[in-house]
Amino acid sequence: MNTIIEKISGDINSDQPVLQKAAQIICDGGLVAFPTETVYGLGGDAFDAQAAGRIYAAKGRPSDNPLIVHIAHTGDLDTLSDNVPDMAYRLADIFWPGPLTMIIPKNSKVPSTVTGGLDTVAVRLPSHPAARRLIELSGTYIAAPSANLSGRPSPTKASHVIEDLFERIDMIIDGGDIEIGLESTIVDLTGDVPVILRPGFVTQEALKKAVGNVLLDPALMTGVSGDVRPKAPGMKYRHYAPRAELIVIEGRPSAVSERLRSMAAEAVLQGRKVGVMVSEELSHGFDNAEVICLGRRNNEEEIAKHLFDALRQFDEMQVDIIFAEAFSQEGIGQAVMNRMLKAAGHRIIKV
Ligand code: TXA
Ligand code: MG
Repeated sequence: MNTIIEKISGDINSDQPVLQKAAQIICDGGLVAFPTETVYGLGGDAFDAQAAGRIYAAKGRPSDNPLIVHIAHTGDLDTLSDNVPDMAYRLADIFWPGPLTMIIPKNSKVPSTVTGGLDTVAVRLPSHPAARRLIELSGTYIAAPSANLSGRPSPTKASHVIEDLFERIDMIIDGGDIEIGLESTIVDLTGDVPVILRPGFVTQEALKKAVGNVLLDPALMTGVSGDVRPKAPGMKYRHYAPRAELIVIEGRPSAVSERLRSMAAEAVLQGRKVGVMVSEELSHGFDNAEVICLGRRNNEEEIAKHLFDALRQFDEMQVDIIFAEAFSQEGIGQAVMNRMLKAAGHRIIKV
């Protein structure tokens, strides 16, 4: 398949012709990768069951893993659901447009291929201007997972999308580097108390402040074990996985630094190609290792933004093993560590 690649500048008026072309492709049943504030999405018409099938095929994604429906106005909630929880409007008032996805009961207009057969639907109103304009111009809603091949880290640069999906989809809109770099927070509103199914830029603290009690899906930080199953089907897959083995070291910075250095040195001696993923503070003094610095330790936003790109760079460098520094789980640190531990298959060493 021929994939059109078009750059946009960020000025919504001069970008209009590109977005118009993309909207037309979506109306015709095609697939377009587009920037959002969280990660790049792979969009198709949310009311076209066949488009959903094409999305699963392009990503190589299991079709029991539902897609997020992207809307342009809060009122669109009522088109997708006949009983929108009050809480959804309250959260929308505060956090939309933005990196929050809400799970609500779906109605019969939403194809079951989009929701992986579930009777609920995930809905998000993105804040990225090009994403919103694309939804408006298409005159429909856009079902969009992250625009990566299944199992690879979510794309935070257009080059990541090209790497994974070139010649598998109709169009890629290059909107440059993504602002946040981690996927949206997912909150399930179908029970009495909201439950976070995937942590993200909108933190548990912020949600609690807005609506009172908010729980975390117990499967989140431990990984899938025994009868603890994550409620978001996608969270059970080993996602964000670099090709190399990834080991996370947690503890006081001085102890982590020492252990990282000794483990890296030992692996180098064994003749392995070693990657190290650390804060700026711990990034010095490694010999013969590929060191990627994610940002300053107390700057969670910077770390969040660079994590997925770093995992892809290690793949490109074909390292055999990666040692990573664990970060604080405060605030968006919760989302950062959720992704890092998933990438590591929950291999963590406490020092
Ligand atoms: O930031 C984001 O959310 C990005 C951008 C493109 O908006 N999208 C994204 O989509 O990350 P995706 O498909 O990669 O992740 C969606 C997650 C999956 O884990 C899926 O299982 C879960 O949302 N999900 C979707 N619908 C659900 C539902 N009805 N109930 C529970 N989980 C659901
Ligand atoms: Mg994804």
